[in-house]
Amino acid sequence: MLDTANPVVTITRAGGIARVTVDNPPVNALSQALRQGLWDAVARLDADPEVSAVVLICAGRTFIAGADVSEFGKPPMAPHLPDLVARIEAAQKPWIAAIHGSALGGGFEVAMGCRFRVAAPEASVGLPEVTLGIVPGAGGTVRLPRLAGVALAVDLVTSGRPMRAAQALAEGLIDAVIPGDLGEGATGFARAALTRPLPAPVSARPVTPPPAGFWEARAAAVAKAAKGATAPGRALACLRRAAEAPFAEAMAFERETFLALRATEEAAALRHVFFAERAAPRPAALRGIEALPLRSAAVIGGGTMGAGIVAALREAGLPVTLVERDAEALARGRANVAAIFAGGVMRGKRTAAQAEALEAGVIGATDYAALADVDLVIEAVFEEIGVKRAVFAALAQACRADALLATNTSYLDPRAIAEGLPNPGRFLGLHFFSPANVMKLLEIVPVPETTEATLATGFALAQRLRKIPVQAGICEGFIGNRILKRYRAAAEDLVRRGVAIAEIDAAMRGYGFAMGPFEAQDLGGLDIAFLQREGARAAGQIVPETLGDILVRAGRKGQKTGGGWYDYAPGDRRARPSAAVTELLAAQVVPGAAMGAEAIAAALVGEMAAEGQAILAEGIARRPEEIDLVEIHGYGFPRWRGGPMFATRVRG
Ligand code: 3HC
Ligand code: NAI
Repeated sequence: MLDTANPVVTITRAGGIARVTVDNPPVNALSQALRQGLWDAVARLDADPEVSAVVLICAGRTFIAGADVSEFGKPPMAPHLPDLVARIEAAQKPWIAAIHGSALGGGFEVAMGCRFRVAAPEASVGLPEVTLGIVPGAGGTVRLPRLAGVALAVDLVTSGRPMRAAQALAEGLIDAVIPGDLGEGATGFARAALTRPLPAPVSARPVTPPPAGFWEARAAAVAKAAKGATAPGRALACLRRAAEAPFAEAMAFERETFLALRATEEAAALRHVFFAERAAPRPAALRGIEALPLRSAAVIGGGTMGAGIVAALREAGLPVTLVERDAEALARGRANVAAIFAGGVMRGKRTAAQAEALEAGVIGATDYAALADVDLVIEAVFEEIGVKRAVFAALAQACRADALLATNTSYLDPRAIAEGLPNPGRFLGLHFFSPANVMKLLEIVPVPETTEATLATGFALAQRLRKIPVQAGICEGFIGNRILKRYRAAAEDLVRRGVAIAEIDAAMRGYGFAMGPFEAQDLGGLDIAFLQREGARAAGQIVPETLGDILVRAGRKGQKTGGGWYDYAPGDRRARPSAAVTELLAAQVVPGAAMGAEAIAAALVGEMAAEGQAILAEGIARRPEEIDLVEIHGYGFPRWRGGPMFATRVRG
């Protein structure tokens, strides 16, 4: 028997077990229509004497992936999700959630309202609300400690991390993993469950209080990991209330927290980033354009960037040929790659056997003949136009005429690198960020000749590498490094106006960056940017003297020389304000009015956004949210601030 009264919820019945199927593409988000459909389904099935249990299952790629984030700006509409979860939990027939894909946020809350949860082996469950600047709003923080214990609930809710089915089963979040046909398996599970006494609904289960000192210790850890974001701490407060107060009181506290956070700037910023990230891989201009197949890749140069790019390509499953200048440089390059894989083993990211397999997929070469059949080559040699041109001339000879050729240049003009290349339509810039196997950003820089298919392949590669692609036009530094230059110059201007270097760094840390602009330069080295400025000066450009130039000329290149903007004791990375720097810069500093941390951060973020505006006006970036993605994924801009354009309200 089929019931199609609701457009997104369908009920079928067979042999005493009803099946409620949700079909609300793309991700079965809990729209008002879906909530209403489930609400009505409970009543209908409770009233049906032939039904003894209900399987809740979803069509499409996933179980219910959560509340509809696009509804968050609007007033909540009945039936409200906490009421729906309570209604499912109180149904006279037991409901069994049959999970495939992801049961996230409100989706997992609905599943926790069910008497049982079963899942396909590849499924995952979780409460990612803090990543959207909110806390679970339909009992997640109150039911999860009852289902899986306080410690695990704290881990999952304050991090937002999902958990795969096998582990979720081991931890008691689900009751069975079902290989094969999920609907059939869940129905079989339901029949078997009906032969035994039912477990208590989750809300009726007790919470075991954690040991003394637990909350204080977790509060400190959560605050540290949150880097200034407020939602994780508020989620912890909800979990504590769930462990210490009666169910109804904890539910009310959670809902109040959820509604308050939903209206915050932080939540708006995180929603902005959520939608920007999802839009980034699919630019409208490339709709319908097929990417070329990528079965193999090569990287030229196995230094800092080349090795990281090799690692990223290998982790994405591509065989990689690494080309270096000579046998000795190749051995160094291979060692750089091996060190990255070994680091992953040390951090528990992979097993030694997996690292070995990754390494075995790297073919070393010093002869371009090895590249006769690769689909994609990424060049990461020295930042010198002559060296790069020679590399591309050799590639033009050695590679297939349709092989994609990319440069990882930071500052050179890709048009100059591609000059003289036969088939320049297959050329583009792919600008990775260091460390290339970690950083999520990939700037994609077409030259005028780059074909749409080449560009689409760049975007497809980004997706395969799990990176966030942002298309950039050609200018010095593209999007990210151009904004970085302005940011650093603005920070130096503050120093010239008498603001202490350490105060500027502290202000930016306070804003949410892991490091301030001067500490970051000390870590990376001041000499790279210095050499670039010197190069420009040698080429006849007028590049005003920076404070950084004064330091480098005095031998202060950063941590590696024992001092840069700060002093460092040997073997100690702690920055100490430097009397020597004060003296070196004294002639440049004209003390002005004191500036508080907030004013410093506002000034510097304002400068970033102003450069972003110029970049938009010149067509170097297409949309302000893409500039935000560049800053967040390439430069450590705090995600929960939404990026410089969002934070300063420069919107498209
Ligand atoms: N609300 C609205 N739209 C959503 C959405 C949501 N919760 N989740 C995904 N979408 C949209 C995306 O914007 C995208 O739209 P587009 O095609 O127009 O660009 C489309 O669905 C597909 O999304 P993805 O590209 O991300 O699809 P994937 O298959 O790669 O991933 C997913 C699927 C794992 C479910 C992923 O989309 C995801 O993680 N979604 C977010 C889940 C989430 O955060 N849920 C919690 C919401 S808050 C909540 O539930 C509060 C509650 O406690 C009250
Ligand atoms: P690096 O100096 O660490 O590595 C360059 C490597 O290229 C060396 O191993 C060298 O032996 C090799 N090489 C030089 N000439 C070669 C040739 N003709 N054939 C084969 N190999 C050759 O430099 P790094 O930092 O890896 O930079 C490489 C490129 O990446 C540059 O264009 C740089 O601007 C760019 N880049 C650098 C970033 C960084 O943070 N270091 C970030 C993003 C881009």
